[in-house]
Amino acid sequence: MVKKIPVKSLSVGMFLEKIDQSWFSTPFLRNQFTISYDHQIKKIKDSGIQEVYIDTDKGIDADDSSGPKPEEKIEESAAIEYMAVSTGRLVANTTLPFNIFVKREGAYSMYLQKGLPLHDFVLRELESQTGVYIPASDRELLEKYEKSFEKEKALSAQGLVPGFESPEKVARYNQFLNNYIPVESSVFFPGIKVSFSIYLEMEMEVRPVLGAGGIVPENEIFCARENGRSRKNFLIHSGDADAYKNFLKGLASGKGPGNPDQAVKIRSAVFKENSKLVMKELMDNPRSGKAVKEAKGVVSEMIDNVLENPSSFYGLMKINTHDYYTYVHSINVSTLSVGLGAALGMKKTDLSCIAMGALMHDLGKSQVPKSLINKPGKLTDEEFAHMKKHVNLGLEILRAQEDLSPRAMFAVTQHHEKLNGTGYPNRIGGDKIHLFGRICSILDVYDALTTERAYKKAFKPFDAAAFLAKNAEEFDKNIVKNFVFMLGKQAH
Ligand SMILES: [Fe+2]
Ligand SMILES: [Fe+2]
Repeated sequence: MVKKIPVKSLSVGMFLEKIDQSWFSTPFLRNQFTISYDHQIKKIKDSGIQEVYIDTDKGIDADDSSGPKPEEKIEESAAIEYMAVSTGRLVANTTLPFNIFVKREGAYSMYLQKGLPLHDFVLRELESQTGVYIPASDRELLEKYEKSFEKEKALSAQGLVPGFESPEKVARYNQFLNNYIPVESSVFFPGIKVSFSIYLEMEMEVRPVLGAGGIVPENEIFCARENGRSRKNFLIHSGDADAYKNFLKGLASGKGPGNPDQAVKIRSAVFKENSKLVMKELMDNPRSGKAVKEAKGVVSEMIDNVLENPSSFYGLMKINTHDYYTYVHSINVSTLSVGLGAALGMKKTDLSCIAMGALMHDLGKSQVPKSLINKPGKLTDEEFAHMKKHVNLGLEILRAQEDLSPRAMFAVTQHHEKLNGTGYPNRIGGDKIHLFGRICSILDVYDALTTERAYKKAFKPFDAAAFLAKNAEEFDKNIVKNFVFMLGKQAH
């Protein structure tokens, strides 16, 4: 029998049938499982989920006394032995076959669950911890892991990663990122004419699929969809940004298909594409007053879209790209900040403020060499020190923008600060970090974890939310909780 129980009643031996939150249902439906360890329960509790469904035919019941008693469970987890591991044995952007623990207040606390990718910035976080541990029983797994990633380790010592084995290849990648803009395929309806060329990217090889002046055909390239979404990476040349803008204008004024069901989708696709171009322009010309004005227009439409679609805005508005672009990241963080701000009960004026701040939070990266921003793999300590400057560089640029609210600046100046005072640039902590700074720091990490790049896998939303919840001394627990609830309400 399937029944709903509060998370606090979960115990080892139960069969987890379903999590009562739509956002998370996909990963968990695929992974229905018998709860075998306490940490699985902890993972669910940490995420703020309140209720789950269990199947009592496949596992023990909520009031079944045949399950292990609490004392037995404590004994079992206390019996785990840990061994310290040097972070030098771990390789950035690999998937770990063992759980990673750190010591907090004298107790071992799980930091990263096995099966998740060890993102370069997560590895950097681990390096700053006083001790990193794995269960001693996983010693052999660690040795096997090290052996299988010997090649990656050697490459990483030279600042390279698989797929980017030579500096020439990295340079070519940078050129590719600069020369092309990723575009959403859903705006290319069969029969519509384009005044610019459209390209397709496959493993960094760019090939034209439609020339300027062409009409979008109804073929496999343009129409193939997987779960309603194209898996292809469509691009336009950076020089065609204005022509693309005009094309979008045409779509917005009704040149697309007349199907009213698609109206919301078209509207959000056009909005996403326009906001991407506005942010790209701002990153290219950060001191341009015109671009800041346009960004205000983006924020106002963004707020309307989020408030009109409270349970589907993220699916509609998240920009998915194969590679990392600061302008895309900024829009995604900003969109989430409006959703989270609304969930926290903020007024519209505050929503405008945080959305604008979130949009601008990484503007200082426009002053950091692109080779650093786009570097595949982990930055060296010197490179990271340089990268950290983006916060103050952003502040410097934005100071000159008189019509930007001083409160919006908290998102810019504090998005890398941490509650325990270990962040940067000012190492402030606790109450000294403004609400907007706290929100932006959470969303910044969330977007970084859930964004796939050419050289690293992404976290699933649930895993990213659990990662944030686990780091309660760095991120505001209450905001993380509200964020998880907000994500939970989102339709797929
Ligand atoms: Fe940043
Ligand atoms: Fe960021």
